[in-house]
Amino acid sequence: MILTAQALRKQYPRGEQVFYAVDGVSLTLAAGEFVCLTGRSGCGKTTLLNILAGLLTPDAGSVSFAGQEYADLDDKALSRLRNTRLGYITQGQSLLANFTALQNVVLPYALRRRPGNPANRALALLEQMGLGSAAAQYPASLSGGEARRVAIARALLPEPELLIADEPTGDLDGETAAEIMRIFAAIAEQGTAVLMATHDTAAARYGSRILTMRAGRLVKVGGGRGAGT
Ligand SMILES: Nc1ncnc2c1ncn2[C@@H]1O[C@H](COP(=O)(O)OP(=O)(O)OP(=O)(O)O)[C@@H](O)[C@H]1O
Ligand SMILES: [Mg+2]
Repeated sequence: MILTAQALRKQYPRGEQVFYAVDGVSLTLAAGEFVCLTGRSGCGKTTLLNILAGLLTPDAGSVSFAGQEYADLDDKALSRLRNTRLGYITQGQSLLANFTALQNVVLPYALRRRPGNPANRALALLEQMGLGSAAAQYPASLSGGEARRVAIARALLPEPELLIADEPTGDLDGETAAEIMRIFAAIAEQGTAVLMATHDTAAARYGSRILTMRAGRLVKVGGGRGAGT
């Protein structure tokens, strides 16, 4: 398993009370799986993804990535794992305003002082996203959907073993969303595990498995592509 989560809980204070944004979630994700996480706004999808990405510490439960428990890693080891083996496309805008599209894609990779020049692969990814001619543009001059595709290219640059995407098609038209889903499906076929939170039922159909969340819990585990839905 590339990812195993057991009995995760995360609580937040709400007025006088405490409520669980994530309430006893267990799941596994194998290499090459494309899993969609659906559920109404506020049901805990982003909170769960942040825990699975190692950005948020759960109050209870555990996450292991390729057999390594996050709880056993120090900050440095955890951020190395996150930066090299995991791609995370967060919900909403995440590009740096003072850098071009191409620089945004390359920057996190370059900061890790990896050998080689990632610019060619970055450009190829931008082209794959239909943004070859926008490489020199700054985020302010990109549409919401274009900016989202730059963030996708950035997440894919290190060839992650796990790609987590939070509403990656939220601001895309149907055709562009379908193109992105085909790219995710192709990445999964090459062995990367993909976990995507989405409200977009058309997008969710590309998944090989659909998880539905309600009030912090996984309530339904259904089939997607190939499962007759
Ligand atoms: N830092 C926080 N402090 C307090 N409450 C929070 C915090 N982050 C999230 N919540 C609450 O936890 C619940 C789950 O939020 P989350 O962002 O995980 O939902 P979501 O399923 O991703 O929703 P959406 O589909 O709108 O993105 C919400 O009720 C939210 O208000
Ligand atoms: Mg969310």
